[in-house]
Amino acid sequence: MTPPGADLTVGDEVVVDVGPVAHGGHCVARHEGRVIFVRHTIPGERVRARITEGGEGDRFLRADAVEILTASEHRVPVRCPVAGPGLCGGCDLQHVSTAHQRVLKAEVVAEQLSRLGRVDREVVVEPLADEDGLRYRTRVEVAVGEGGGSPFVGLRRHRSHDLVPIEDCPIAHPRVGEGIAAAAEDARGRELTGIAAVDVVAASAEEDVVLVEVPADGRTERITVRERVATRAGERELTVDARGFWQVHVDAPRAFVEAVLEAAAIEPGDRVLDLYAGVGLLSLPLAEATGPDGQLIAVESDDLALAHLEANLAAQPQALAVAGRVDDLLGVPRKSRRRDKRSRPPARSHLLPPTADVIVLDPPRTGAGRGVVEALVAMRPRCLVYVACDPAALGRDTGTLGELGYELRGLRALDAFPMTHHVECVATFEPPSGRP
Ligand SMILES: C[S@@+](CC[C@H](N)C(=O)[O-])C[C@H]1O[C@@H](n2cnc3c(N)ncnc32)[C@H](O)[C@@H]1O
Repeated sequence: MTPPGADLTVGDEVVVDVGPVAHGGHCVARHEGRVIFVRHTIPGERVRARITEGGEGDRFLRADAVEILTASEHRVPVRCPVAGPGLCGGCDLQHVSTAHQRVLKAEVVAEQLSRLGRVDREVVVEPLADEDGLRYRTRVEVAVGEGGGSPFVGLRRHRSHDLVPIEDCPIAHPRVGEGIAAAAEDARGRELTGIAAVDVVAASAEEDVVLVEVPADGRTERITVRERVATRAGERELTVDARGFWQVHVDAPRAFVEAVLEAAAIEPGDRVLDLYAGVGLLSLPLAEATGPDGQLIAVESDDLALAHLEANLAAQPQALAVAGRVDDLLGVPRKSRRRDKRSRPPARSHLLPPTADVIVLDPPRTGAGRGVVEALVAMRPRCLVYVACDPAALGRDTGTLGELGYELRGLRALDAFPMTHHVECVATFEPPSGRP
């Protein structure tokens, strides 16, 4: 018998009609007034959902669809033995056709922009160059575990530290797949004693796949790999730490560079900022576009990424790599510091100019935040290009930009993470007249 909504707890099962998709890889269902976020289902389905998290008094419950009673026309067989309820937490959407995955992601982006950014806009998610959303990841970290006395490599279950053993991963690039198989072999041969994880990296300008063994303290030997990127000016090579940030989809570097250059419409001589620059994937083509009479200032807070950024920009005399956090350099109090009345906001750095023609920013999942957005608008750029890996953060910052007179003019949404709920957006903001 199904328990009443108020009494639902972990392990209970309820039959629900599944409503719209929500941000985070699940859909919304209701049972006697309780909101349940159900994974492994599709809007319009009727499913038996098993509660996996939450209980009495919680605002919402989490659940897995363990039996599909009425299937959506968009449902397809999963292409991985460990995709599904209770298994690997990596892929949220293997059970959905890739075309419909993009429809669902577009709905999420549109909903976040509308609710948080107060902008109503139709969104289309574009595929990158991949076969059916498979074999695209050039980086996968597998954890090393032990089960029944036998060591193995695996991936984590959803919202858990438990591991699901794997021998391959269908979204991993073929070279990464071979690396995972080799790591699994090493684990079985007890060659990974004292190793917590193995980072498997297939860099585009390296012949061999790189396996970085990560001990429990996380301190690894520094290994530099080379990545090749096609820019308007030709093919370029950048260096990056094997474990450092690099876009994971094999086609993302090309696609993101193209989308940003198109959105930024740099003119020779422009003063351009590239904030949260990483090793300079966007900085290098932006520097080339602004040319010898322009200026490119790239900001990055991670020491190791900064060293690569400096090296990757070395041949561009108009480019400057600045070390530090964007908020600190702009004189914006950090969120955590705001509550502490004794700490004063940092002084604005003289390394950042008072104005800029174009600002590109690619912040982490938390977004830029109100303080940084206000400081950027004060620089009166004619165009602000925001690369966003989290639609909710983009929605919040879109709202702030709108209040300050910068309107969302262009939006590209790119399916850089097929089979998962993640999506990357390149949003362009301009003041109404085009001139601040
Ligand atoms: C999403 S990555 C983007 C990197 C680059 N645009 C790319 O596509 O390769 C964000 C980068 O911002 C850096 N970062 C994170 N927080 C930062 C902050 N507050 N200030 C400056 N850089 C930051 C991270 O170290 C990381 O390299």
